[in-house]
Amino acid sequence: MRTVALVLAVVGSLAAAVAPAAAAAPEPTLRQLAARHDLGIGTAVDMAALANDQVYRERIASEFDSVTAENVMKWEALEPTRGGYQWGPADELVAFARANRQSVRGHVLVWHNQNPAWLSSLPATELRSVLKAHIQTTVRHFKGKIWQWDVVNEAFNEDGTLRDTVWLRALGPGYVADAFRWAHEADRGALLFYNDYNIEDVNAKSDGVYALVRDLKRQGVPIHGVGVQAHHTAGYAPQTMRENLGRFDALGLRTAVTEADVRMVMPSDSVKLQAQANVYSTMLKACLLTPRCLSFTVWGYTDKYSWVPGVFEGEGAANILDENFAAKPAYRALRDDLSLGGTRRRG
Ligand code: XIL
Repeated sequence: MRTVALVLAVVGSLAAAVAPAAAAAPEPTLRQLAARHDLGIGTAVDMAALANDQVYRERIASEFDSVTAENVMKWEALEPTRGGYQWGPADELVAFARANRQSVRGHVLVWHNQNPAWLSSLPATELRSVLKAHIQTTVRHFKGKIWQWDVVNEAFNEDGTLRDTVWLRALGPGYVADAFRWAHEADRGALLFYNDYNIEDVNAKSDGVYALVRDLKRQGVPIHGVGVQAHHTAGYAPQTMRENLGRFDALGLRTAVTEADVRMVMPSDSVKLQAQANVYSTMLKACLLTPRCLSFTVWGYTDKYSWVPGVFEGEGAANILDENFAAKPAYRALRDDLSLGGTRRRG
């Protein structure tokens, strides 16, 4: 037996040496596989890495058909001084996407974070006109180039009530409807999303979002979708995500997974990496099983560039490729999920 095995091993390695590439057809990329499902597959993009790291750039082009600006479309980046718009980095991303036949998720118009300092010194009476001007100038600038806009981001508390932000305080709860109306006036072709975290499952927070978007729809406010950010930990896979996306779908809204990453307490090990793969897979499947779940976007795709270690102490390794761009179990899990079936048509 041993001799036979040895002979087979030698023959096998000879064959491999003679014809190394013949057997190894390149594996399909996420982008190729997602197309079969009519699903957008996206990543957040770090503009410094895009400028300096060729491998980072190449993998974005080959693996993804959608991109989101990780930071350069936020208010502090676009309008650092009042009226002094800086479009350069965001325009670069849009040009990169165009060159690589990718669509763009616009992120973000109304938020309580990463706003410019000048905003906080304005009297409350000016905030309504300033918000309207920022939304409309920005949406008009990118008109026709943005597939989905995150119009309002993170407006809810965990208990399902509206978060106490500068916008709620100055403008009252109607600011959400107004933001969607203003954005729609500026680009009638863009899909307008409400976006938040911890709303993957059915819970108090997603109940609050559900009640709001249902009311907005009833009032005829131009809202087209709900984005679930999907920042998670490897220890917990959402249990009711399909049901949750399904209830938004039933309102006639699109849905999207907008910022998926799955962090773990460092150091990583094979059990944590497998658990992480399971969380990514659970979330992708929930999207695939929801008819109008348009896209699955990861918040960065390599551990080489990730916001996680800087924000969550002691945690990291949240992405689908490691810091050397090697595939982790999570990457293979997404590829396996996307290899199954594939007849969806997105609305
Ligand atoms: C994060 C970026 O990844 C960081 O680079 C930045 O320092 C802070 O913001 N929810 C969002 C994203 O909607 O915009 C945040 O992005 C992550 C949480």
